[in-house]
Amino acid sequence: MVSATSVKEALQSTAPADGMLVQGWVRTRRDSKEFSFVELNDGSCLRNLQIIARQTLPNYDAVQRLTTGAAIRAQGSLVTSQGKGQSWELVADEIEIIGGSDETYPLQKKGHTPEFLRAISHLRPRSNLFGCVFRVRSRLAFAVHQFFQERGFVYVHTPIITASDAEGAGELFSVTTLDLEKPPRRPDDGRVDYAQDFFARRTFLTVSGQLEAEAFACALSKVYTFGPTFRAENSNTSRHANEFWMIEPEMAFCDLHGNMDLAEEMVKYLVHDIRENCAEDLGLFAKFVDKELLARLEFVVDRPFQRISYEEAITLLKASGEEFEFPVEYGLNLQSEHERWLSEKHFKCPVTVFNYPKEIKPFYMRLNDDHRTVTAMDLLVPGIGEIVGGSQREERLDVLEENMRRHKMDLADYKWYLDLRRYGTVPHAGFGLGFERMLMFVTGVANIRDVIPFARTPGSAEF
Ligand code: 4AD
Ligand code: MG
Repeated sequence: MVSATSVKEALQSTAPADGMLVQGWVRTRRDSKEFSFVELNDGSCLRNLQIIARQTLPNYDAVQRLTTGAAIRAQGSLVTSQGKGQSWELVADEIEIIGGSDETYPLQKKGHTPEFLRAISHLRPRSNLFGCVFRVRSRLAFAVHQFFQERGFVYVHTPIITASDAEGAGELFSVTTLDLEKPPRRPDDGRVDYAQDFFARRTFLTVSGQLEAEAFACALSKVYTFGPTFRAENSNTSRHANEFWMIEPEMAFCDLHGNMDLAEEMVKYLVHDIRENCAEDLGLFAKFVDKELLARLEFVVDRPFQRISYEEAITLLKASGEEFEFPVEYGLNLQSEHERWLSEKHFKCPVTVFNYPKEIKPFYMRLNDDHRTVTAMDLLVPGIGEIVGGSQREERLDVLEENMRRHKMDLADYKWYLDLRRYGTVPHAGFGLGFERMLMFVTGVANIRDVIPFARTPGSAEF
């Protein structure tokens, strides 16, 4: 059998060709007096290839009954198109119907609501919009690796099952094989005896690979993780998922400024890469999802991001005259409404806020000389708010131990982490980029559920 040509390759042809084989799913079919025209899509690109079926085909009757969603294989001659708006079409010598469909196929031509499409997450990648989303998702993942590999970072696979709460926020999913109906109990206090659990201790799905990445940065100098992370936070928003992917670089011999520089360079690189390599898909988002998208992306790659301290951010927010749901005062954990005001309304560009009060940030961030703030940084972008969170890490053993006690942590559980400060400690820094938030930013898609193949959110884990 001839090997198949993808629709993308067929449409990029430079010369007519005979005996070309294409395969995919029928988007639409219409008939004229002499022909049947089938629009074929195989997901290799946004556009369809038009297949022309002549009455002389032995199964012309069956072709005329083809409906949207059916899978076919067609062999024939690629010729320059007579019709407007397309360069090539395939005049079929043979059409094989591989898998039929019928009028109950849910993705008919009319527009559908996002909610309806989420309920058919197994079929929505066959729509134009979601085909584009998931092609861009794939390219973005590739570009992430390319960015770090070009700069000499080593990719580290940090564990997915872990014993530590890296963010200290208690938003952990437990991993256990204990019988939840009748777990073993400790004789002394009657509490669940995790010593009898699978790993002989309590374990969780990771919320972040940072702590383990720190161990590797303190050996391989520049590392990054890129993997799934899990948070049992009950926030039903358009920007939170319970399973999401995070990119976490970690650099030894690096301070907060080097960290902010890398985050800015990375976001620009990713935007630039997607503009270069996914132009057709971006065109669809610009037309149907977000009219401002292309102008915004161009603006982002061309200009330096703003940088302000948390204290300056509070001053600006107070002076803004806006009625925020969460009133602004020093010590407030910035909410999405504040983050968006800063990046969307005030600066109208991405902005990195740094040096947050120590009380609202995790134990591992380096204490500044003012003893009030830590070297935290959050990168905020228009339309989304926080896309990156990071910090310089506390490398001084005594200060770190003090921070951990203040956060009521059991130091014995983190002996290995403290060892990194006992042996060859160095200033180091890193951050986490939410992969889905970055994808929302480059596509303009407003809900995180629509950039994840099968989203996990509170009360919802179908498929
Ligand atoms: O700010 P976060 O919680 O930082 C950390 O986890 C650090 N350990 C990272 C580091 O320094 N290595 O999360 C980092 C980013 C956020 O800025 C956001 O983009 C994304 O991860 N994120 C989420 N994305 C989707 N759904 C959620 N529930 C998210 N929580 C965080
Ligand atoms: Mg954060």
